[in-house]
Amino acid sequence: MVNCNCVLSEVTTDYVGKEGRKIMALKDLYENLFRIGTAGERIREGWTNHEIGNPQKEALILQEFNSFTCANELKPAYNMGFADPSAREDYLPFAINPQAKAMLDWAKENHMSVRGHVMVWHSQCPREIFCKNYEPVTFPTDPAVLEKNPMMKFFEKLNPVCYVDRKTLLARLKSYIFSLMEYMYQNGYGELIYAWDVVNEAIEPADQMPDGLRNSYWYQIIGGDFIYWAFRYAKDAVEQHSVQYHGRKPSLFYNDYNEWMPERIGILEKILHAATEDHGSILGEDLIDGIGMQGHLSDNNDLEEYLQALRTYASWVREVQITELDVKCTCTNANGEYYQALFYQQLFTKLLEAKREGINLTAVIFWGLTDDNSWIRGANPLLFRGDLSAKKSYDGVVYALTGESLGEPAQILLDLSDRRYDFENLLVEEVQEESLVKEIRGEDPLDDSEKKQFLEKAAMQEKQLERLGFRMRGFGDIGLTKKLCHTGTTCLANEHHFGDWCGISYDASDFIGQTIEMSGWVYCTGPKVDLIGDFAGEFQTVASMETGKPEWVFFQGQISIPMELHSAVFVFLVREEEGNMSPLYLDEFRIHLLGQMEGFEGKHHTAAIRGAGHLPFLQVVEEE
Ligand code: GLA
Repeated sequence: MVNCNCVLSEVTTDYVGKEGRKIMALKDLYENLFRIGTAGERIREGWTNHEIGNPQKEALILQEFNSFTCANELKPAYNMGFADPSAREDYLPFAINPQAKAMLDWAKENHMSVRGHVMVWHSQCPREIFCKNYEPVTFPTDPAVLEKNPMMKFFEKLNPVCYVDRKTLLARLKSYIFSLMEYMYQNGYGELIYAWDVVNEAIEPADQMPDGLRNSYWYQIIGGDFIYWAFRYAKDAVEQHSVQYHGRKPSLFYNDYNEWMPERIGILEKILHAATEDHGSILGEDLIDGIGMQGHLSDNNDLEEYLQALRTYASWVREVQITELDVKCTCTNANGEYYQALFYQQLFTKLLEAKREGINLTAVIFWGLTDDNSWIRGANPLLFRGDLSAKKSYDGVVYALTGESLGEPAQILLDLSDRRYDFENLLVEEVQEESLVKEIRGEDPLDDSEKKQFLEKAAMQEKQLERLGFRMRGFGDIGLTKKLCHTGTTCLANEHHFGDWCGISYDASDFIGQTIEMSGWVYCTGPKVDLIGDFAGEFQTVASMETGKPEWVFFQGQISIPMELHSAVFVFLVREEEGNMSPLYLDEFRIHLLGQMEGFEGKHHTAAIRGAGHLPFLQVVEEE
């Protein structure tokens, strides 16, 4: 991991474009088009890769961006005052945490506009607020499982016996939103905050609810119209307090991911039009200003589809924003940055076209400043490296406006020899679990040097594996362990994966256009492990392993990798019920070339996705 101890002059000089001429900062280049922003976290002891509190990162933010989002600190998890003395059964106050306050003060001092994120979300929301007397009763995790993985405590589901009724939860929702808004205006932040995500990620077709909504506690207790009520309260709170404090009115947003998928677009349309006997619809009562497309993308996504969704959303509401943009770099070879940059350039070119058509795109916010503190840091999805140097992707964003070209990808030699990974002879540092668990338990928080060591060792482990083509896919971590192995003494371990899209990824891009055989051994106490090829979002299963017993399971499968890709990623995913996180181990992984596909002319690329991130499950620690 690179720490930011670079000299300030490196970050404050204007970016120098291809022909050596100076280019203005992004915020100036895009000034008349839309805000251009970033998200960040406040530095905490030891977690040195955060942004606010690090003078170099702050300087880069102020230089390049004119909008800032607190990546974690304003979320319900850290600000719901159920433990506040003023809390009652039907009154839940907003109680700001010191980190969030410090960040808003930083923004105020620096005249930085802020996107408020977020009022209502199923994730990073204290379970207490759904419970009578704010006392959760959970279905307890099996103690043996907990012993092995204390993090599971965090995922325990609430037992409905402790749920409050709909009326109480609505009262809590209302008081939280009103007191939040009052706090913002009272403390002079009303001027800074130009938009609020009122509801985040309420859609989840996979939950199979009749209306396509996520089966969250909000949904279970209030029903689907919790979204309507959140907007109603937010709108009323803004009207009330903005008049009192003569402040600006923030735009109110619905925000979500995979927002280009037709099914999700259809569900959102219904949400916005849904009226009941008690109330009109969100659109009918003019409660919403904007739709936020998060924009967690990969450099092989379909841009046409994305832009089509942007146009559709823009036709429903006054404004649209891209609120959490990051683009996973799928290539790991020398062309990785090139393809990512090309994608950024094409995306921004299309956004400019949309602007010209009259689409009211008012902000594009990157989800993070530098790759080293991205939530999917392994995927290197942002514009700047950990040392604050601008990547080619920065050029891509600039060139969308200047019309310059990124040139052609490099020609790269492919290695089509057989691969065998036994994970022996590597430096093994089993630091991750131990450190994370301590932090999560809050029993024995890590001291500064331990945290620093954790970051360094975790990064070192990741780099080592990355050189072999293995990365974390999505949010979680991978490492090496001697706890168990199929052969030798060591195997690859993926002990934390937050969601069924997260697991081990392997970069097989050298084999694009070829037919290969993949084999190896997995160990997992979850019921099933799939090995899947991700070919630009088209998924093909290579092997499906019935696991679930404490033993190693052999797998073998063949696959032909389509030749038109610029990257070919394979992922090992544990298939299990939501809320479980069975560790996954891999050993003796082999790849063998079977044959070349007909018509293959030879393309030269590689890929993978990896990374951990904002560690959103960590408690924000009180400051001295
Ligand atoms: C979602 C949320 C964000 C953040 C990212 C991951 O997109 O809206 O707040 O947690 O996931 O970092």
